[in-house]
Amino acid sequence: MKVAVFGAGYVGLVTGACLAELGHDVAIRDVVSEKIDTLNAGEVPIHEAGLADLLERNRERLSFTTEVDEALEDADVVYVAVGTPRTSSGDADLTAVWTVVDELPALDRRIVLAMKSTVPVGTGTTVRHRLDERGLENVGYVSNPEFTAEGTAVSDFMHPDRIVIGAFEPADGEVVERLHEGIDAPVVHSDVASAEMIKLAANAALMMRVSFINEIANVCEATGADVIKVAEGVGLDHRIGRHFLRAGLGYGGSCFPKDSLALKQLAANSGYHFQLLAAVIEVNELQKRRVVNKLERRLGSLRGKKIALLGLAFKPGTDDMREAPSLVLAGRLQAEGAEVSAWDPVVDGTTHLDGVHVAPSALGALEGADAAVLVTEWPELGELDWEEAGRRMSNRLLVDGRNMLDPETMRRHGFEYEGIGRASE
Ligand code: UGA
Repeated sequence: MKVAVFGAGYVGLVTGACLAELGHDVAIRDVVSEKIDTLNAGEVPIHEAGLADLLERNRERLSFTTEVDEALEDADVVYVAVGTPRTSSGDADLTAVWTVVDELPALDRRIVLAMKSTVPVGTGTTVRHRLDERGLENVGYVSNPEFTAEGTAVSDFMHPDRIVIGAFEPADGEVVERLHEGIDAPVVHSDVASAEMIKLAANAALMMRVSFINEIANVCEATGADVIKVAEGVGLDHRIGRHFLRAGLGYGGSCFPKDSLALKQLAANSGYHFQLLAAVIEVNELQKRRVVNKLERRLGSLRGKKIALLGLAFKPGTDDMREAPSLVLAGRLQAEGAEVSAWDPVVDGTTHLDGVHVAPSALGALEGADAAVLVTEWPELGELDWEEAGRRMSNRLLVDGRNMLDPETMRRHGFEYEGIGRASE
């Protein structure tokens, strides 16, 4: 089939590259001409495992353009994969979605508009009305949400747990199902609103687990239990499962924080107070800040103290800094008067953090530090020469915000070690 993808961000590029891998001809369109130039030059504007290879391997089936007409030429399916950031009120900002919908010209054949962007429930119905108002009845509409996580997006797309397709017309849903031929996964067909809700509810369930285990971790700290053992013992119950039970500094990224607010707001707009989700969000906010108290308990006032942040990206395997806990942490530490240094293997910290000394290596960031905070569980940090790290620091204190390191080993290296939800000395 011939597919047009509007939006060359994480979601659009992964969707386009994977559909090309499945054998379709894909035109990816973005309004940012620098991005399109980069892609046409054979480079990839984002860090996503396996994406560069996939784009390279499917070069002859992929094209990149800023032109709507060029992208739509002979297209059977048009994917919307543009950003839906949050507005100041917490709602999803659908400006870019409306631009795509309104740009669609009248065509003399049927095409299917497939929504990949995460949108509030009800968006499909509004799009349908907007298309009908313009006489575009031959544009079908399907909600086909994505469940890919950054860092594993390519493999998540090619080996999904399920494919969700919500359509007004069953035939349009079947077109989108055919597009995924070659992928072995159950397909959930539904109405459009339910497909939209599946996406938001799935993310909410995952966030709820993260905030749940973080609260259990906080209670573990107060009672002497170890959250890693607790998560293992709880997660082995097949009704609960092991995933998303890693306690830490809280979730970040381009999806969870935005989508949780959007769902809470969506409910509120309909007069419903989504209490559980409100608590999930609040727990997550507090979780990022607890590290500051942990440091203060050990160091006293942080004024003039040097604190090294190890890892900046919201999770390993990505250069994404959207809603990264490191941003809140750096800001809070600076507000307490600390001098902050930082290192990340892929993020250029200088463009994201003001007044932070960004070092080219983890050891460099640790030079003279009174404490280190492991913020992102990059594998490099597991392999770091912690003995040497300790020698570089002026005080061997480590707060392991992701419970990545072995407390006993760290203590043998002379560190005061404090994790999240684990007994500390
Ligand atoms: C998430 C979902 O996992 C995807 O299914 C979804 O498609 C995507 O959002 C989206 O809506 O587009 P992503 O944000 O890339 O994907 O990252 P995750 O791997 O889910 O991690 C989210 C955050 O939760 C990270 O900050 C991570 O550190 C944190 N987390 C995750 C924990 O703190 N503990 C865990 O046990 C798991």
